Amino acid sequence: MSHPAPGTISAEPLFLRALAGEKLPVPPIWLMRQAGRYLPEYRELRAKAGSFLALCYNPELAAEVTLQPIRRFGFDAAILFSDILVVPQALGQKLWFAEGEGPRLEPVADAARLAEIDQLADGAKLDPILETVRRVRGALPRETGFIGFCGAPWTVATYMVAGRGTPDQGPAKALFAKDPELFQAIIDRIVTASVSYLNAQIAAGVDAVQIFDSWAGALGPEDFRRWCVAPTSRIVEGVRAVHPHARIIGFPRGAGRLIPDYVAGTGVDAVGLESDINRDFARDAIQSKLPVQGNLDPLVLRAGGPELEKEIAAILSAFGGGPFVFNLGHGILPDTPIAHVERLLKAVRG
Ligand code: CP3
Repeated sequence: MSHPAPGTISAEPLFLRALAGEKLPVPPIWLMRQAGRYLPEYRELRAKAGSFLALCYNPELAAEVTLQPIRRFGFDAAILFSDILVVPQALGQKLWFAEGEGPRLEPVADAARLAEIDQLADGAKLDPILETVRRVRGALPRETGFIGFCGAPWTVATYMVAGRGTPDQGPAKALFAKDPELFQAIIDRIVTASVSYLNAQIAAGVDAVQIFDSWAGALGPEDFRRWCVAPTSRIVEGVRAVHPHARIIGFPRGAGRLIPDYVAGTGVDAVGLESDINRDFARDAIQSKLPVQGNLDPLVLRAGGPELEKEIAAILSAFGGGPFVFNLGHGILPDTPIAHVERLLKAVRG
């Protein structure tokens, strides 16, 4: 065995070096929703599993789907194939996916209903997903990072309360205005379950975890502190209590100018940026303090052509001078041509 000269090559995946604050000549790259419907090999295994949720709870197939984009594209990190809504399901809520319509849950809109789901809560429902983590860990190349995740309490609560995705998170906002104690009780359950779930994912073999707060941008500054920053900081604390060196990426999508408050208030190691954030602001006020991840517009990736080239160059020029992980600003769209992903990787890696 030969040893690399110090400072030249490291066995540490590039993805983890960037999260540790290292500025790299070529940034690591992965894409949110990189395992998904734009890949024919994903569509094939999803059909074999019968449904999206059946795929999530089948460790053999879910591990295979997690690895598909690594085999095809050689991304610098794999992300566990699952969904943020498996946590409400473990909390006792019924979950299903209406074909072509997205997630459905039986809404939790009052205290009686919350007491009912409490009777059905069972953390062991997440065991098959931890088995997926172990399988992926065993099969992943050493140079590839491995990301686990959960939804942030605010975003998960919006689905638990409304029973579905909503354009403006109106039902959740109405509930915290009318009955903040009940809303807090829902948030508390998500925090506790998420801490156990992330700690179990880390114990099973993920290198880093990402907390997805897709609807953070729907909250004004006060509500943002109460329902987004405070519960997320409890998750970070609960994970660090068990795994002091865990790498944690926060993704408060749409929080824009509130991201510096989020960073200071939660203690995450790195932060994901949405596509429409002002990049000068993001570099000067955020990346100056911690690594950033993002922020190519998924619509631009889908469209391809000169606009894609221009945006890749703009992102590399804005963030290439500091610790940075190249990604999208939100999940890849199902009708994205594979050739555009290949082109993106070539352009980023030179
Ligand atoms: O990034 C990854 O590839 C990891 C796996 C992952 C999925 N969902 C797989 C998925 C992750 C991290 C998520 C997160 C998630 N899920 C979020 C937060 C991030 C975001 O996208 O805003 C939210 C809000 C959900 C809830 C959810 N799951 C919705 C609203 C939908 C329907 C929308 C859609 O794309 O169909 C899902 C389904 C879902 N989750 C799919 C995948 C691959 C599509 C399932 C399919 O039909 O095959």
